Amino acid sequence: MSDKVAILHLPGQDPVELPIFSGTAGNDVIDIRSLGKTGYFTYDPGFLATASCESAITFIDGDEGILLHRGYAIDDLAYKSDYLEVCYLLLNGQLPSEKEFAKFKHTVLHHTMLHEQLVAFYRGFRRDSHPMAIMVGVVGALSAFYHDSLDITNESCREIAAFRLISKMPTLAAMSYKYSIGQPFMYPDNTLSYAGNFLKMMFGIPCEQYVVNPVLESAMDKILILHADHEQNASTSTVRLAGSSGANPFACIAAGIASLWGPAHGGANEACLEMLEEIGTVDRIPEFVARAKDKDDPFRLMGFGHRVYKNHDPRATVMRKTCHEVLDDLKIDDPLLDVAMELERIALEDPYFIEKKLYPNVDFYSGIVLRAMGIPRTMFTVIFAVSRTIGWISHWKEMLDQPGQKIGRPRQMYTGEVDLHYPEK
Ligand code: CMC
Repeated sequence: MSDKVAILHLPGQDPVELPIFSGTAGNDVIDIRSLGKTGYFTYDPGFLATASCESAITFIDGDEGILLHRGYAIDDLAYKSDYLEVCYLLLNGQLPSEKEFAKFKHTVLHHTMLHEQLVAFYRGFRRDSHPMAIMVGVVGALSAFYHDSLDITNESCREIAAFRLISKMPTLAAMSYKYSIGQPFMYPDNTLSYAGNFLKMMFGIPCEQYVVNPVLESAMDKILILHADHEQNASTSTVRLAGSSGANPFACIAAGIASLWGPAHGGANEACLEMLEEIGTVDRIPEFVARAKDKDDPFRLMGFGHRVYKNHDPRATVMRKTCHEVLDDLKIDDPLLDVAMELERIALEDPYFIEKKLYPNVDFYSGIVLRAMGIPRTMFTVIFAVSRTIGWISHWKEMLDQPGQKIGRPRQMYTGEVDLHYPEK
């Protein structure tokens, strides 16, 4: 029980005592679960001050620019670990022993192929479909192909579903790209790393040998690590809410992908590149910066600002470094990248952006790296989804493992009509 309480004074009622709980870090929370008895609800659209669950996976301190996965700082993981080890960490709660990791890696890297009927499923989409539209469909369709891992009350089924999702997401993602450009699908190559295999499925063709560039492989691995989880963001909360009703994991992840797609969330890296293309040349930057500052103009600088990070985004710091490494290694001469670098410089010095604490976020830099790697912008959010699958699955699993888990059911403040009478005819 909590030894701290908050006292709430409501009109015409005795003071209500609400317990205060402390986590291991971050804000204390006021437990308002008993508030319904008083005839009141709390009101917090946008979840600005609502902890929707208890979680031990990821911690963010937005003021200090801290992001921890299972207690480890994101930059430590980005520089010393690799994506699959981070997957193990997020899913299981601690770093693996050598033996545990070898087994985990082998399982992930050897379940990359899809049911062949699912391959045929792609052909039902228009060639010009957005790859995220295909992803929402094909990931949801996994529930129609893997019936044997749908029993969420069975721990082994939950584990198999988790492995299937982590293993097959790169294959599904690369196929959505290949389909859109009319090239043959590339089967996965289980001898390669997770990132290397994805690059081969994206850029390889059956009639030529594909050699993975280690700089690109390492950059892709970093992008995957940096997007792996981010506590209760919109898509993770969507996965939790969908999962709280007992929906199967493939359906829940498809819901997460849909939520991620929006430009205020995972779609920001694509929207950022679109914006850079619209700006076009360095001399037009001031015009767009002025528009971003104009209250009457809905335009925003995409890739800037964050709901939680109001100091700096620690993922952006790592991604910025990777961004410069990739640009140097590839020696790319791309005017759009010049626009990006100049925009970064101007926005970091502009009082409006400094006052409102609007720093470039991870998607600003990941968009630039992905473009430099030759990845089309419609695939940016898809890659985010590949990476975030482990976060979604870890949260889904954590939620189902919690005793007394309940279906998520927010309440509302009703502002519609009342007492209308159906007209006589
Ligand atoms: N450009 C110009 N002004 C901005 C921007 C921006 N990118 N972002 C916020 N502002 C202004 C906004 O107009 C508001 O001004 P005022 O106080 O005068 O009304 C103030 O800053 C606060 O903005 P807000 O919308 O209340 O802040 P929020 O916490 O609700 O929004 C955000 C966070 C990420 C949605 C927003 O900053 C944004 O739209 N950024 C661009 C989209 C983007 O890059 N999203 C990716 C986030 S990182 C990936 C992820 O984790 O999903």
